[in-house]
Amino acid sequence: MCGIVGYIGPERATDILMEGLTRLEYRGYDSAGVAVYENGKIQVIKARGRLDCLRSKLEGQPLYGHVGIGHTRWATHGEPSDENSHPHLSQSGRIAVVHNGIIENYAPLREKLMRKGYEFVSETDTEVFAHLLEDTFSRGNGDILKAVRDTVLKLEGAYALGVLCSRFPDRIIAARKDSPLIVGLGEGCNYIASDIPAVLPYTRRVYLLEEGEMAQVFADHVEIYDMDLQRVDKEVYEVTWSVDAAERGGYAHFMLKEIYDQARAMRDTISPRVKEGRFNLAEAGLTDEMLEKVRRVVITACGTASYAGQVGRSLIEKLCRVPVEIDVASEFRYRDPILSPEDLFIVVSQSGETADTLAALRLAKARGCKVLAITNVVGSTIAREADNVLYTWAGPEIAVASTKAYTTQVLCFMMIALQLALVKGRITQEKYDEYMKEFLTLPDKAEKILEDVTPIQKLAARFFSQEDIFFIGRGLDNALCMEASLKLKEISYIHSEAMPAGELKHGTIALIEPGRLVVAMCTQTATMDKLFSNIREVLTRGAVVLAVGYEDSTREDEATSYRMAIPRTDDLFAPVLAVIPAQLFAYYCAIQRGYDPDKPRNLAKSVTVE
Ligand code: F6R
Repeated sequence: MCGIVGYIGPERATDILMEGLTRLEYRGYDSAGVAVYENGKIQVIKARGRLDCLRSKLEGQPLYGHVGIGHTRWATHGEPSDENSHPHLSQSGRIAVVHNGIIENYAPLREKLMRKGYEFVSETDTEVFAHLLEDTFSRGNGDILKAVRDTVLKLEGAYALGVLCSRFPDRIIAARKDSPLIVGLGEGCNYIASDIPAVLPYTRRVYLLEEGEMAQVFADHVEIYDMDLQRVDKEVYEVTWSVDAAERGGYAHFMLKEIYDQARAMRDTISPRVKEGRFNLAEAGLTDEMLEKVRRVVITACGTASYAGQVGRSLIEKLCRVPVEIDVASEFRYRDPILSPEDLFIVVSQSGETADTLAALRLAKARGCKVLAITNVVGSTIAREADNVLYTWAGPEIAVASTKAYTTQVLCFMMIALQLALVKGRITQEKYDEYMKEFLTLPDKAEKILEDVTPIQKLAARFFSQEDIFFIGRGLDNALCMEASLKLKEISYIHSEAMPAGELKHGTIALIEPGRLVVAMCTQTATMDKLFSNIREVLTRGAVVLAVGYEDSTREDEATSYRMAIPRTDDLFAPVLAVIPAQLFAYYCAIQRGYDPDKPRNLAKSVTVE
């Protein structure tokens, strides 16, 4: 989604802004721009397209000022264009604004401003803020911070804002509500950014702005305020992960790097939670006492995170005999869900910023539920607003297509399910120990899959030109199919559907024709016979079947033409391994088709609009 960077200090601002924006490219964008204070006024340069378009414009018209704000935009109000790109200037040109989020009441505000004679050059909600701020400032006492505060109080919706005013070139003003914003602390210089990687080359010391906080960022100091304009004393957050961790590290793409990083990520998720042969999830409020009381679990999330939740549902119901309800957050929040304070309410979000998931969390809290967040980003809004957090510790996930976040989210559900099953007496200590022993081997088994990916590369080379690919499976394999199918379509643009295998014959089988690829997930022994009946149904209609199954199973070879193998594990744990060949298959299909898997079209890493 959109990215914000701001800089004030002795360096040439555009150098720092462009570097920061480059580090935010992964968030997804379709245009970019910068505003720099120079020779007594604010100069704005912006361009539709990739950052290189902006770079060439800046080469033709270099800016030398030392304070500026920059932005990468992902269109919401108005198409991607130079005019709609940020920063936006107020009518007089004295105020420049960058904004992430959506101003919901922008239409009435715009009308009011137009009646007052303000002229709009873009279709954006952000330009409304620029003019409104100027209007408020011109009628105030000359205090720009107060004018920003008074203006944001008139906004409905979400915002992270960076403001530059030519009357006050010694500062940048920042404000946030429902959209992340940080302040980076340098030596004789300071920064603002929507995301930590933007400032990591320069500093590891940041302030994480909270809801309704504002900052006045000067070169030599930073002042934080609340909405009553009272100074706030904030703790500095020290970033512990390295710049390198946020870079590609020799891999062709972030996505490939992150697929390979999964064994490490899995170890980091598991090891802090295993103490003396037991899972200890007390850090996330999941004490034995608390788990004993759980009568129902409700899970909500979006996209890949919701598919991790689907695996979670099957595991919890199967192992614990506790009912689980799951829904995507965008539906959940609007269907007046039936919730009770006794429910264990779980939200899952890699970024911790997804607007619908956050809204679902707030709804659950408003209904008196205690919310547990499974998330990857420390200090994210969801992490801060949830009652308890189980961090996935996957490390920064840069590629838009989620990989290591999914596997680590699924591991979190496995730990919760096993612990809940033990506490509720649904499994014996012996069975628990057996599961634990196998569970701890999963990172090594993931590593083994990654040792030789050539067979998967060859399969992608064989099938990348397919127009439709179907994924079928039963039970946990069905939950996995949804993620495998999403991965394929989002980066290779091959149309794909995931189907419970038994459901095919109720309609979708009409689409099976000679040569069509059907990927069959074959890890669930209990339903294997049934699955093979479904495989035969498509084979007789000329489909080609690619099976994903255990390396020591010969059954797939008999019926299917191609296979991708994973090491043997307990069927309950199979999704976390079987997803890896599916991720690699999607990745290599995208490469074969000539697409950049890190920057899939129309997609953004962090979806902070509804
Ligand atoms: C797909 C993908 C998305 C996200 C979804 C939720 O690869 O990454 O489907 O899973 O947008 O994002 P988070 O987990 O950040 O809430």
